Order: sequence, then structure tokens, then C-alpha cells
Amino acid sequence: MPSKLIYNDQQYTLDADKTLLENLESQAVSVEFHCRDGHCGACRSMLVSGDVTYSSFPMAYLKEGEILLCCSKSEKNITIKSL
Ligand code: FES
Repeated sequence: MPSKLIYNDQQYTLDADKTLLENLESQAVSVEFHCRDGHCGACRSMLVSGDVTYSSFPMAYLKEGEILLCCSKSEKNITIKSL
């Protein structure tokens, strides 16, 4: 059974090989982004539940509980909200 990605209370499927941003884009969700490489912070979102891993260290400033959608992935069910 595929894992779930809940974004702003809507449920989508989660592909662990794609970033969270790519997951949302591939399911026609409009998400803010700019650099796509962890620098600008435009894709900052709030992690409600679950875990993420980063392919490269996120350079944008993050407050506690925030993640960058453009460079993070998740292998299990995850719930996030836009800021
Ligand atoms: S789009 Fe720039 S940090 Fe994610």
C-alpha cells in the first residue's frame, strides 16, 4: 500500500523517491518555490507529523518544526501544512 502525504488536509500518495515538492507537483498541487535547492526558503512548510530526510543540507533558515519541501523526502506517511 502506498504511503500517504497529507498537505493542507488533503490526501495524496507519497513516492519516497521524489522530493515532497515533486510529489505535490506531480499531483497538480500548487506550491510556492523558487530555487529548488534548499537556499531561498520559499518552500518552507510546517511538519505536522512524520519524518523527512534531506539529500543535501538545507541552507535556508528554518524555525522549529519547519521543513523545506524542495530538498526533503519521506519514506512513511507524513502530514505537512503550508505556512
Ligand atoms: S525552493 Fe528554495 S529552499 Fe526550497
